[in-house]
Amino acid sequence: MLTMQFQLSKNINRLTNAGVIPAFVSFFLLLSSCGKDELISDTAYNLEIPKGFPAMDIPLDNQLTVQRVALGKKLFFDNILSRDSSVSCASCHLPEYGFSDPEQFSKGVEGRSGFRQSMTLTNVAYNTLFFWDGGATSLELQLLAPIENPGEMDMNMPELIERLSNNHEYPSLFREAYDREIDPFTITRALAAYERTLISGNSRYDKYMYHEKNDALTESEKRGLEVFNSSRTNCSQCHSGFNFTSFGFENNGLYEYFADSGRARVTTLHSDVGLFKIPTLRNIGVTAPYMHDGSLTTLEQVIEHYQAGGKLHENKSPLITGFQLTTQEKTDLLNFLNSLTDYEFISQTAE
Ligand code: HEC
Ligand code: HEC
Repeated sequence: MLTMQFQLSKNINRLTNAGVIPAFVSFFLLLSSCGKDELISDTAYNLEIPKGFPAMDIPLDNQLTVQRVALGKKLFFDNILSRDSSVSCASCHLPEYGFSDPEQFSKGVEGRSGFRQSMTLTNVAYNTLFFWDGGATSLELQLLAPIENPGEMDMNMPELIERLSNNHEYPSLFREAYDREIDPFTITRALAAYERTLISGNSRYDKYMYHEKNDALTESEKRGLEVFNSSRTNCSQCHSGFNFTSFGFENNGLYEYFADSGRARVTTLHSDVGLFKIPTLRNIGVTAPYMHDGSLTTLEQVIEHYQAGGKLHENKSPLITGFQLTTQEKTDLLNFLNSLTDYEFISQTAE
C-alpha cells in the first residue's frame, strides 16, 4: 500500500508539474486513494478474457462491478463531460472506427484540434503507459488529460462535479457504484472501469489462431501472416504477442525531423526523440489515418513506408531496414492486416 501510494503520488507530481492536472485535483486524488474498495460480490462484472490473452491487472481500489461499468459507459458517451456540452469521449473514440477517430486531428470543444491522432481504445487496459508518448501511467490518471485539456473537453473538475451532482440520474448511479459522492476519484474510476471492458479478441485471426478454425483465414491472409512474422519485414518484432505490440516505444523512421518529439517529451532524453508507443494492430483496418500524427491515410501507404526503410534518423530502430515484396505478397500482408478486425467489438453502441 505504501509503495502504491508513493508510486501514485510520484505520477501525480509528474502530471502536475507538466501542467496536465492542477494541484488541487491531485491532492484530492491522493486523499481519496486511501479509501477501501467495498466490492459487493454479487454485482461483480464478468469480464470475458479471450483465449490467448493474459489475465488483466485490475487495481484493488477499482474492482469491476456491473454498476461501475454501466456508469463509466454512460459517462463515456455523454457530452456533459465537456465545457459546452458538445463532445463526449466517444466523439474522438468512435466504436465503429475501433474507438479511434477517422479525422487526422480530432475536434474538441469549439472545433479546436490537437496535434495527435486519436488512439484506438482496443484492449487499452493491457497498456502500461498511455498516450503516444507514454505520458500517463494508469487509465485512471490518463483520464484527467482529455477532460481538462482546452483542446479536448476543456472542463474543470469542480464544475464537472457540480454538473453531475445536479443531474437527475448521476448522483444515485455514483452512490450505487461506489457508495460515495461524486468526486475526481469516482469519475475517473468509473470511466476506467468501462475502458477495461473494451476487449477485442474475436477477429477471424483469433478464430484461426486460438480456436483452431483453419478456414477462418483465406490462403492469402495466411501467407500475409507469414510475411508479417518473417525476418524480412520484422513487423512481429515490434507488433508482437497477443495484442500486436511489445508495449514498448520505438522510432520507426517516419521523419528525418520530428515536429513532435514523442517519448522525449516525457523523458527529455535525446535518445527518445521520434520514439512513439508501438500501437496494437487489432482493428487496424478501421482505424485510419495512421501514425501519431495521422500522416499516412491507408494501409498501403504504411506498408510502402516500411518497404522503403523509413527516413534517416539517428534513433531509427535497426529493425527498420526496408525490404522487397512482390505485388502478391503486399496484397497478402494487407489482407492479413484487415483480418484483424473484430466486427463484434466495433459494432458496440452507447445503449
Ligand atoms: C477531442 C478529442 C478527444 C476526446 C474528447 C477524448 N480523447 Fe482520448 N485521445 C485523443 C487523442 C488525440 C489521444 C492521443 C493523445 C496523445 O497521445 O497525446 C487520446 C488518447 C487516449 C487514451 C490513451 C490510449 C493509449 O493506448 O495510450 C485513452 C485511454 C483515451 N484517450 C481515453 C479517453 C476518454 C475516456 C475520454 C473521455 C473522458 C477521451 N479519451 C476523450 C482524443 C480525444
Ligand atoms: C521497430 C519497431 C517496428 C517495426 C519493425 C514495425 N513497426 Fe509498425 N509501428 C511502430 C511504431 C513505433 C508505430 C507508431 C509510430 C508513430 O506513431 O509515429 C507503428 C505504427 C504502425 C501502424 C499504424 C498504427 C496506428 O494505429 O496508427 C501500422 C499499421 C504498422 N505500424 C504496421 C506495421 C507493419 C505492417 C510492419 C512490418 C512491415 C511494422 N509495422 C513494423 C513500430 C514498428
